[in-house]
Amino acid sequence: MTALLRSAALRGREVQLAFGDGRPDMTLSLFWLRDHDPDTDAQHPQTQQRLIDTWQIPEDIAAQWVAVTDAGSALQVCWAPDSRVSRYPAAFLAGLRADPDTMPAARVLWDGERIAAQVPEVDYAALMGQDAVLLAFLEQVDRYGFCMVEGVPATPEATRAVAERVAYIRMTIFGGYYDFTANLEHKDTAYTSMAIGPHTDGTYSLDAPGYQLFHCLAADCSGGENVLIDGFRIGQIMRREQPEDYALLSTVEIPGQYLDHARGIHLMARRPLFRHDRAGELRQVSYNNHDRAPFVLAPDEQRRFYRALASFARLCADVSLHYRRRLLPGSVLLFDNWRLLHAREAYVGYRRLAGAYLNREDVDSRLRVLRMRVAT
Ligand SMILES: [Fe+2]
Repeated sequence: MTALLRSAALRGREVQLAFGDGRPDMTLSLFWLRDHDPDTDAQHPQTQQRLIDTWQIPEDIAAQWVAVTDAGSALQVCWAPDSRVSRYPAAFLAGLRADPDTMPAARVLWDGERIAAQVPEVDYAALMGQDAVLLAFLEQVDRYGFCMVEGVPATPEATRAVAERVAYIRMTIFGGYYDFTANLEHKDTAYTSMAIGPHTDGTYSLDAPGYQLFHCLAADCSGGENVLIDGFRIGQIMRREQPEDYALLSTVEIPGQYLDHARGIHLMARRPLFRHDRAGELRQVSYNNHDRAPFVLAPDEQRRFYRALASFARLCADVSLHYRRRLLPGSVLLFDNWRLLHAREAYVGYRRLAGAYLNREDVDSRLRVLRMRVAT
């Protein structure tokens, strides 16, 4: 429901707005209002891009009057001295109010038992055919950090189609869409692959892949179970039980690197294991102990850093936080690589894995647009 305006009062160079939904008033300066004027002289009607030259707006711009019109659905500002009137939709103004409660409420942190009891999933045919199901799929990824697609044909084409239904596939040093058939050419069924511990991908990337998609196209093997861990749940536990360790891992920037001399590649990036936004909300977990680049801290801090990292690693190893699943043909997994850690147990035999990375901004864009379409 769109919030309607209840009142607007001009107080010097500011406008105080009250909304009908009872949430706190909002105050906007006349300078800000002119800078965001939706009139065609100030904003392009199609692209919504700003046309007005902000630095040509008089610092002391004034208004003759302001009024709520259209039964609360608009604010009008009559500028001085030219008496020109600008009209601001109430929906636009209401949307400016930050709502810090919305996002965390939508997010459900989980441990292994909780998520295994209710695994988020959607049906392949419905996902491909209905935008409402695509929205439900992405909402679940947003809420739980992952969602399965069931009933997917075990082909590279169908797997790729699922990825592209969400967003375009990201190109990296590994290529784009991949279809990994490790031992096919060797025809060696005794192929052995080592366990891979809990990690996030791309700690060496300035923009680590936002999402990953996996489809196990063939699993003629023993072992090879996948493990997913909610990194935000680990953050919640650490924040409560080891606040000093949590604070350290939220501030020390850990460098990650990818080094391939033969191909002439040396990627590097650094960020704290727990990265927060300005509001203090946890936004990203980055951890790959194999890819941690050498870096030195003062001796005391170094000691505390290793202790904090060990606390984190211990929580990663806690099986009660693990959601274990043997990925089989027909089930596609899409997960948030900024939130979940993933691991894979050792296996013996033949396994064919297809997958892709998706950029965070593209998936976020898709979700934002789908939410808007459903809301209107
Ligand atoms: Fe990985």
